Amino acid sequence: MLSMFSDFSVKRVVVVGLGYVGVPVACSLADAGFEVVGIDVIQSKIDMINKGESPIKGKEPGLDELLKKVHKAGRLKATDDYSVCEGAYAVLIMVETPVDRDNVPRYEALKSAVTSVGENLKKGTLVVIESTIAPRTTTDIVQPILEHKSGLKGGEDFYLVHCPERVAVGVLLKNLKELDRIIGGINEASAKKAKELYKNIVKGKLYLTDSITAEAVKTAENTYRDTQIAFANELAYLCEELGIDVFEVQKLVNTSPGRQMLLPGAGVGGHCLPKDPWLLLYGSGKTFQPKLIPTSRHINDSMPHHMVSLAEEALTQSKISPHGAKVAVMGYAFVEDSDDVRNTPALPIIDHFRRRGIEVVIHDPFVKGVEGIGLTKNLNDAVGGADCAIFVTAHSRYKNLKLKNLLQKMRTPIIIDGRNLFDRKKCIKEGFVYKGVGKKH
Ligand SMILES: NC(=O)c1ccc[n+]([C@@H]2O[C@H](COP(=O)([O-])OP(=O)(O)OC[C@H]3O[C@@H](n4cnc5c(N)ncnc54)[C@H](O)[C@@H]3O)[C@@H](O)[C@H]2O)c1
Repeated sequence: MLSMFSDFSVKRVVVVGLGYVGVPVACSLADAGFEVVGIDVIQSKIDMINKGESPIKGKEPGLDELLKKVHKAGRLKATDDYSVCEGAYAVLIMVETPVDRDNVPRYEALKSAVTSVGENLKKGTLVVIESTIAPRTTTDIVQPILEHKSGLKGGEDFYLVHCPERVAVGVLLKNLKELDRIIGGINEASAKKAKELYKNIVKGKLYLTDSITAEAVKTAENTYRDTQIAFANELAYLCEELGIDVFEVQKLVNTSPGRQMLLPGAGVGGHCLPKDPWLLLYGSGKTFQPKLIPTSRHINDSMPHHMVSLAEEALTQSKISPHGAKVAVMGYAFVEDSDDVRNTPALPIIDHFRRRGIEVVIHDPFVKGVEGIGLTKNLNDAVGGADCAIFVTAHSRYKNLKLKNLLQKMRTPIIIDGRNLFDRKKCIKEGFVYKGVGKKH
């Protein structure tokens, strides 16, 4: 496996986990001149990369082209064989780090990857954890496994840092290149070593700190966003009660200096925001009881259920019996113009109606083939004969929908707007029953 590349003078970097983070990182490092080997446990991803194809669908500007370019140049390969870590300049780990139903971190993927890296680790290699992890994970979990498996000493024989990733789906390459990064070393030498690597692909500032601080920074920045969204969602509930429009309120709040209120919506999804607050809090509570962060999580988790309530109110108002009713869920990805469905707020909505025996058709222009979900890319199939169209995702396609066409195709003209896609007054004028998050009902 070490002979994957012919030129041994070029530094080899191994990227473990070829997902939304791993693919752009691997491509960027390869484009910067490194010989990059990606490792994954999913054979189809390995095959795609080795054919020069990106396993990530949805709009990711520049990624397909970059992957083709570095593949053609022979600087990016993929495998499931960890022996490529032997003698590598750096090994970057970016596998998934979810939490379970009790909000406890599930580190199976991380521990498995770290174990395999440890078994193949040689002196002088830099190991980077890019996955988002709870404070103390680098020193309390990762370092002991690496040391145990390799027989080497962290900070002396090998370098170890946590350099959390800040990319977002839809702007993966742009964020990777432009955003500042935090590099948290288990010691100063490790942090400095990692800076040498990252300055090849990051134009933003590189801030050096310790690994626990870096872990806290990453989980805190997403927690901060989650609590801000929770504020917007709570205000949406309040505005509905007041009979005013939260989006108008938000716009006007932001005319006050220093206010940057976010938007409310149908729910918070993705691999990061719904779990990073729990990672931040993991192991806390010994000397204080966190209140704001868990409450914010619960408010955001309530939004899909609120969408369901709005839909049920509208169906009752339109005298539609659940028996024989058809609901169209518009958007399955958690974020606009993406194929990322992780923790999508669409799922609790779909589950609810299916449990009630109501026919649910799901439309998404980007997502394909989610097992057992029953999804169409054909808009007419979704809204045709529907009694209620529930807009969960702000895909660009929906923003340009013609209300008249929608009206003609639906059996009952009900719009539930979870993303402020439509003008309430216009919808009502066209003959729709319209209910939107944070709007007058
Ligand atoms: N998606 C984002 O926008 C984003 C942003 C910032 C940080 N993060 C963090 O980065 C990490 C990765 O996120 P992602 O979105 O890329 O996840 P992902 O699920 O898209 O990718 C993870 C990849 O790791 C692979 N994998 C799992 N176990 C493995 C093993 N033992 N060996 C090799 N490969 C293995 C999986 O098959 C998968 O392809 C997470 O900790 C996440 O919280 C993600």
